Amino acid sequence: MGTTLLGTGAYLPSKVLTNEELEKMVDTSDEWIRERTGIRERRIAEKESVVDMAYEASKEALKNAGVKPGELDLIILATLTPEKRFPATACLLQARLGAKGVYAFDVSAACSGFLYALDLADAFIKSGKAKKVLVVGSEKLSEAVDWTDRSTCVLFGDGAGAAVLGDGGGEVLSSKMYADGSLEELLYAEKCGFIKMKGRELFKQAVRSMAKACQEVLAEVGVKPEELSLVVPHQANLRIIKALAEKLNLPEEKVFVNVDRYGNTSAASIPIALHEAIKKGRLKRGDLVLMTAMGGGLTWGASLLRY
Ligand code: UT7
Repeated sequence: MGTTLLGTGAYLPSKVLTNEELEKMVDTSDEWIRERTGIRERRIAEKESVVDMAYEASKEALKNAGVKPGELDLIILATLTPEKRFPATACLLQARLGAKGVYAFDVSAACSGFLYALDLADAFIKSGKAKKVLVVGSEKLSEAVDWTDRSTCVLFGDGAGAAVLGDGGGEVLSSKMYADGSLEELLYAEKCGFIKMKGRELFKQAVRSMAKACQEVLAEVGVKPEELSLVVPHQANLRIIKALAEKLNLPEEKVFVNVDRYGNTSAASIPIALHEAIKKGRLKRGDLVLMTAMGGGLTWGASLLRY
């Protein structure tokens, strides 16, 4: 018995913002965005709040897991765009789900937030302190970007993803999480400020740190890259994903990509991708899936899961 992904869910706002539309807003081109990032379009939450999106993704994950909100022992929500300074967005979600009394808190680890939260959920389950945990990544990054700054506004999108974890036939085989606060200036946002990024340096850090974390988790349990069914990397840039696949010696078809449709949704990126991969039948029970992320903090990590 190990920490098992019992069910997943995702929510993407219906409003699509294309590269062509961005051409009218800032000095950019569809060609530049596609070539440098692989992004074609992203979703924008016009009416939805961070809690609304988290709620929709969670409802679907709970339904797919066959778990009722009242059966949860813990809700961990990862976001860099919390609904309020406080209470935690996880508490607002808990109330919306009607999971009264359930232990709930937020994790602030930017794009690595979902993996940090998953690592915590696994520790709670392994220690016996929780049996069923809801882990959510929800982001309204459209509120955190400067829509006059072409170097960042073309990159991000809104959305949410969720997973219910509990005892079952699966397992978190290995998980390594890291942070280096001295690299803060590569990617940050001041309180109530916009996202600031040193893209070129961050690109190199992303490839290097994710590849190393992946190699460490694989080495820890003696799994070879060719034994993996799927890799679900953080969706920030197609060129980063391709460079990572090359470093890990993995064929492209084993690496899940949806950055073309959603851009970078930070903490929501991995759970959205994971949910889509499962829905498309790209993951079957017993398969090995490797997830990896890097983001503001800097934070990074990798997690190897038997689905
Ligand atoms: O989620 C956390 C993890 N995120 C990341 O890891 C992001 C990492 N970084 C990246 O994905 C890439 O560095 C970017 C996509 C942000 C930028 O791509 P790049 O190939 O590193 O471009 P660059 O920053 O070196 O900029 C190249 C040129 C510059 O012009 P000059 O100085 O060469 O004349 C920029 O001003 O592209 C220009 N540029 C643009 N041009 C058209 C920057 N943004 C744009 C734009 N449209 N939107």
